Amino acid sequence: MPSLIGISGSLRRASFNASLLRTAALLAPPGLTVEIASIRGIPLYDGDVESESGVPAVVAELKDRIAAADGLLLVSPEYNNSLPGVFKNAVDWLSRPGHDIPRVFGGKPVGLIGATPGAGGTRLSQTAWLPVLRTLGTRPFFGRSVFIAGAGQVFDQDGNLQDEKTRELVRRYMVGLAEFVGG
Ligand code: FNR
Repeated sequence: MPSLIGISGSLRRASFNASLLRTAALLAPPGLTVEIASIRGIPLYDGDVESESGVPAVVAELKDRIAAADGLLLVSPEYNNSLPGVFKNAVDWLSRPGHDIPRVFGGKPVGLIGATPGAGGTRLSQTAWLPVLRTLGTRPFFGRSVFIAGAGQVFDQDGNLQDEKTRELVRRYMVGLAEFVGG
């Protein structure tokens, strides 16, 4: 049974992207397991810390979980028409030391989706992730897209994705991603 590890790039309690990740996990087709991980607790990257004590335990643990999964699902907000620094910082730590990149990310099927209250649906953020995913040697899934705009209208106060058309979009994305990961 293929397994995915999903990570939201927002620390906000009421994060639309964390809600989207939970929804994607719920709408995953039978046969695909989705484990939800977090970037909480990952410190700012500091090369001195790395030289003196290696990667922090929280990073090493997440690296191992990504390496063990068949695929990775990144759920990214958009900040200033690009990717959020907190999320990129986490991925930067996860890419250390560089010789470990192939074990963690090499050939890894990666899905990328996102939600925003704005009109663009995180298109610019998702585009900004592409050079990162290429550099890490991942295998991004381009078969379908999820760009959720107007997130305040499609999620309710509790973070449930209420809009049926958007749920269907996410469901289909997860079916496509499951095939991509399993195939
Ligand atoms: C934003 N936001 C935002 N949205 C967008 O669609 N395009 C953008 O360029 C930006 N820029 C931006 C910069 C910064 C610094 C912040 C804090 C926010 C709004 C953003 O989409 C919104 O805060 C989302 O709710 C963030 O995602 P979560 O936390 O709900 O998952």
